[in-house]
Amino acid sequence: MRILITGSTGQVGYELQRQLADMGVLTAVDRQQCNLADPDSIRACVERVQPDWIINAGAWTAVDKAETERDAAFAVNAEAPRLLAELAAARGARLVHYSTDYVFAGDKHGRYREDDPVQPLNVYGASKLAGEQAIAAVMATSHLQAWTFRTTWVFGVHGNNFLKTMLKLAQTRDSLSVVNDQFGAPTSAALIAAVTAQLIQQVIAGKLVEPGLYHLAAAGETHWQAYAQRVIAQAQKKGLSTHIAPEQVQGIPAVQYPTPAARPANSRLDCQRLESTLGMKLPDWTIGVDAVVADVVRTGF
Ligand SMILES: NC(=O)c1ccc[n+]([C@@H]2O[C@H](COP(=O)([O-])OP(=O)(O)OC[C@H]3O[C@@H](n4cnc5c(N)ncnc54)[C@H](OP(=O)(O)O)[C@@H]3O)[C@@H](O)[C@H]2O)c1
Repeated sequence: MRILITGSTGQVGYELQRQLADMGVLTAVDRQQCNLADPDSIRACVERVQPDWIINAGAWTAVDKAETERDAAFAVNAEAPRLLAELAAARGARLVHYSTDYVFAGDKHGRYREDDPVQPLNVYGASKLAGEQAIAAVMATSHLQAWTFRTTWVFGVHGNNFLKTMLKLAQTRDSLSVVNDQFGAPTSAALIAAVTAQLIQQVIAGKLVEPGLYHLAAAGETHWQAYAQRVIAQAQKKGLSTHIAPEQVQGIPAVQYPTPAARPANSRLDCQRLESTLGMKLPDWTIGVDAVVADVVRTGF
């Protein structure tokens, strides 16, 4: 089995390489080897690798920058998935793709389900939604089997993320103010890769895993301030000395932390479809956070 992973330098791309290593012949490509903004580069890469599975971990993830670079964001997040879906369909390969809770407005009470109405608040969310829809359109007119995992608040040992930023700031700042009215579940890249591995294993074992959209997030919920406090408390437990104590992280409303792109207040995803389809229980967000904090403190950041 030949598996092609795009976005090899990203958080999820990195973990996929670790967790899919024994599942077949793995080819993980970076933007030099497969530029998702360039259709010719994508075609050449798929032609070269001849994959049975395409795992598209590459994406334009610069949420604020997308506001002013709309075409570039759409090229990577909408046109590239469309082409990957067409190429996968043409050769009978299967496709795994990742999307985001940013397809939603974040004003629902309760967790978002896969079939809830979408309404992105920013260009990044709109580009990711266009990618999901492009794949669904190819599925509707071909035999393509594709699974799109909408995930949220991603962090990992590898790459830049909120968790590492908080650790750095806690070592240099005397005070820290973090938003406390946006809710979600920090989801580790390792968990996303593990679920992807489960999917592939079950499909190749012959189990019917219905293709389509699935929500994939750690269990439980928090807000950014409590997340930051957990990160700092765990780092201290692991021996990191910080300038500030967890309880010194102040909470502020999102209106006091304006960003070019608006963020949803509610990023909570209902993952029942995934859990019942794959027969698994997603772990609480604190488990992944504690593990990554321990790793980052041990290995440096
Ligand atoms: N991060 C989050 O909080 C979050 C939340 C919800 C959903 N998601 C989704 O989860 C998936 C994985 O995200 P992540 O956190 O792993 O992202 P990430 O760490 O930012 O990695 C993105 C990857 O895409 C690559 N890439 C960007 N533009 C490219 C291009 N033109 N050609 C080829 N590769 C390109 C990057 O390469 P370079 O290293 O060269 O830039 C990097 O390898 C994405 O679909 C993302 O939209 C992420």
